[in-house]
Amino acid sequence: MPYKKRPKVIAGNWKMHKTRNEAFFFVQTLTSLVKKSQESVFLAVPFTLLHPLSELKRKENFLFKFGAQNMHDEEKGAFTGEISVAMLKDAGAEFVILGHSERRHLFGESCGFINKKVKRALGEKILPILCVGETAKEKEEGATKKILESQLYESLEGISDLKNLMIAYEPVWAIGTGKVATPKDAQEAHSFCRKLISRKWGEAAADRLIFLYGGSVKPENAADLMDMEDVDGLLIGGASLAPESFSQIVNVTEDIK
Ligand code: PGA
Repeated sequence: MPYKKRPKVIAGNWKMHKTRNEAFFFVQTLTSLVKKSQESVFLAVPFTLLHPLSELKRKENFLFKFGAQNMHDEEKGAFTGEISVAMLKDAGAEFVILGHSERRHLFGESCGFINKKVKRALGEKILPILCVGETAKEKEEGATKKILESQLYESLEGISDLKNLMIAYEPVWAIGTGKVATPKDAQEAHSFCRKLISRKWGEAAADRLIFLYGGSVKPENAADLMDMEDVDGLLIGGASLAPESFSQIVNVTEDIK
């Protein structure tokens, strides 16, 4: 197994799932199933769960990190139904997913909008996990690299320091479909993205950047994906909803450094 100098991150994205009781049950079960590596576990939860779960964390002293799945780029104002970074931090969020493909495709978020959100998050010292990835059609057309380049450069436009940011490569055709990228394909995309980062921000910045793979990650394929040199972590949707499958992913990747 290759030695990775970057910290490992196993992140769950609950999307629009779980009420408070369900979330408490999940987290309490997870603390009994995951003894080691708790600090590498990130959970992106619905807004309503941020405060109750942060309180639970404070009381029970576990190390999982809670974050949000989206935010608005403006500080405050007349944006009905939106949430600001100050509100997320106030509720205990330690990170925020930005530019998830469901935001891009179902809610029409552009790279320009996502770029403003990334800047706001970094300015307010909350860690963004920026998602990029090609659709099935773009892959068929051989446009994967072009898409990754434009999404990365446009979403990170004008940002000088990438120290407090992570990137998730999530091929859209693999999200919720059961079609996972092969470890080799994931490695190729990650190493390509790292090169793109290196070109603009330098080798040291690229070397330090944590890249997660997302798209139909399951306990059965997690270790092989994590074994790839440039796959530093995983972003998991469906399999993060049950403590059994999620803890298995955390535990099977535990010894991969
Ligand atoms: P999936 O979702 O694991 O259910 O494919 C991944 C994601 O959307 O982050």
